[in-house]
Amino acid sequence: MPVLPATEEAISQAAQALARGEIVAFPTETVYGLGADARDARAVTKVFAAKDRPRFNPLIVHVPDIAAAETYAPFDDTARKLAEAFWPGPLSLVLPKRPASGIADLVTAGLDTMALRAPNHAIAQALLKQRSCPSLRPPPTGPGGISPTDATHVAAELGDLPAMILDGGPCARGLESTVVRVTGETPALLRLGAVPRQEIEAVLGHPIALADEDAPIASPGQLVRHYAPNTPLRLDATEVEPDEALLAFGPSAPQGALTTINLSAAADLAEAATKLFASLRALDQSGASRIAVMPVPDQGLGEAINDRLRRAAKAR
Ligand code: TXA
Ligand code: MG
Repeated sequence: MPVLPATEEAISQAAQALARGEIVAFPTETVYGLGADARDARAVTKVFAAKDRPRFNPLIVHVPDIAAAETYAPFDDTARKLAEAFWPGPLSLVLPKRPASGIADLVTAGLDTMALRAPNHAIAQALLKQRSCPSLRPPPTGPGGISPTDATHVAAELGDLPAMILDGGPCARGLESTVVRVTGETPALLRLGAVPRQEIEAVLGHPIALADEDAPIASPGQLVRHYAPNTPLRLDATEVEPDEALLAFGPSAPQGALTTINLSAAADLAEAATKLFASLRALDQSGASRIAVMPVPDQGLGEAINDRLRRAAKAR
């Protein structure tokens, strides 16, 4: 399958492939994803067949803007406030699905709610504007399931499956979107992600609780193995063994690891988020017997980074 620079022509070809029921990989500001026409049950089936994605894991439908999203799900005041604050951007809203939305049941895993997101990425926007029906975008997950943040990751893992891969270079954010459910009385945080919890609370004007991750119906996609490299992880490392790879953070990384990648020598959490998945991937292939991970402050984006690291450590 071809990896194409995302020229105007390649984007048109991708839109045509989606219309034919094929699947296409393309970048967003968070991670790359596999796109299919969310109203085409057969195309969606191909996305599910792509990896060991469990059937009950619902997908996010991607749209260019609020107006497009409203054709699939009604927005209440809270949903509108959040979308106006963060769209286009790395926030997914879980909303009641319109009965006549036309979205394939497989997309929503049979739920009467659906997740919607308008990505802030020129290539994704150009594609979504051409293809009036939404693409859904589960990021293909690699061996052990680290989300792809570069077209080469996608190519390495998906083989012939997508009709094409639009190459947009590395993703600016590197962490998946924050997922907020806006149904029922109070909004709930279903997944930590690229929009920090505090920013959402600032818009809502009140704290937002993280839904219990063991409640499968609340967020069926919160599967631990989503983020797991094959090499075991040792968290909160302050020193390192010679057979370990070191995932460092900040200016004072300990010496002596087999190999070291610093998420951000300047201790910048946004830079660390951008590099997280690619770094885990590289260290996973380093031949080290363990990946030692330095502590990352649990504030702002650090909360989501630590969430991914804990999942990666737990999944083994
Ligand atoms: O940044 C992202 O969100 C990336 C890019 C490609 O947009 N996509 C992504 O998709 O991470 P995925 O499939 O790995 O995660 C979708 C998340 C899961 O946690 C899933 O449970 C949740 O969204 N979700 C989707 N529909 C839902 C629904 N109706 N109710 C509750 N959670 C839902
Ligand atoms: Mg995922």
